[in-house]
Amino acid sequence: MTAFETRALLKQLEATVEENLDRHLASAENWMPHEYVPWREGRNYATLGGEPWSAGQSRLSPIARTALELNLLTEDNLPSYHSELKGTYGRNGAWGAWVNRWTAEEGRHASCIRDYLLVTRGVDPGHLERARMATLQAGWDSGDKPLLHACAYVSFQELATRVSHRNTGRYCEDPIAERLLARIAMDENLHMIFYRNLVQAALEIAPNQTLRAIADEVVGFVMPGSVVPGFARKAARIAQAGIYDLRIHHDDVIMPLVRHWRVFEAEALDADGEQARQDLAAALGALDARAARFVERRAEAQADGR
Ligand SMILES: [Fe+2]
Ligand SMILES: [Fe+2]
Repeated sequence: MTAFETRALLKQLEATVEENLDRHLASAENWMPHEYVPWREGRNYATLGGEPWSAGQSRLSPIARTALELNLLTEDNLPSYHSELKGTYGRNGAWGAWVNRWTAEEGRHASCIRDYLLVTRGVDPGHLERARMATLQAGWDSGDKPLLHACAYVSFQELATRVSHRNTGRYCEDPIAERLLARIAMDENLHMIFYRNLVQAALEIAPNQTLRAIADEVVGFVMPGSVVPGFARKAARIAQAGIYDLRIHHDDVIMPLVRHWRVFEAEALDADGEQARQDLAAALGALDARAARFVERRAEAQADGR
């Protein structure tokens, strides 16, 4: 897509952005992050004369700690996401207003998860801070995705983040963490709906290019947390625990959106659009097969007590 075509598409989609920004503002709750943190449990760390952190102080299981830490570090990288979105969507009009609003909402997520973890001594605060520094220095580079690819990606990514927070909350076995993460997941759900509606509108304006974008983003999907130090190891543990695995990715993230967009019912596609749809069908089949193999291997490992 040329720069000229991208500008034309941004303009064509602007009414949808405006309409969905209004809908979003009417449905989003201005919730207060400080209300979700058990401040009374807080106490000084070593330098201020208190006790240093030790693993025994955490009420979270090691896997719950890993999942919360990965979710938090992913949220921490917000400055990079903001600049990537500004680069793609621009800073003007409804697009710019959306990016700023979205950024303000996302900013709550990292701050209240960190407050919860520091107050409850859920994770090693020194390790967490070093990982935050490393994550922000790595930054997030979406690879200059074209506009429609960026819209498809963030639809999947917001839903993936929603599912990941929700499942992590359940896994924590702490009602305070569960309440906090369920609240954050509600924000992610509204973000997903915003982008889902945008892709829906794009499918009507430019069905062939939008189908190509959806197919490419299903094939190449990478979690935004992939730049977090030790991501592969952390993601593997989280998958083993069933918090976020390939089965969940296929069933609860990719398929609900693909179904919602009714891409297999789209008519009057050109040859490129048809090819994109075939590529998408092949990618979905391959993802489903990988998910089935993963679940099988995990069940075998659990049966062997590994
Ligand atoms: Fe978030
Ligand atoms: Fe979000």
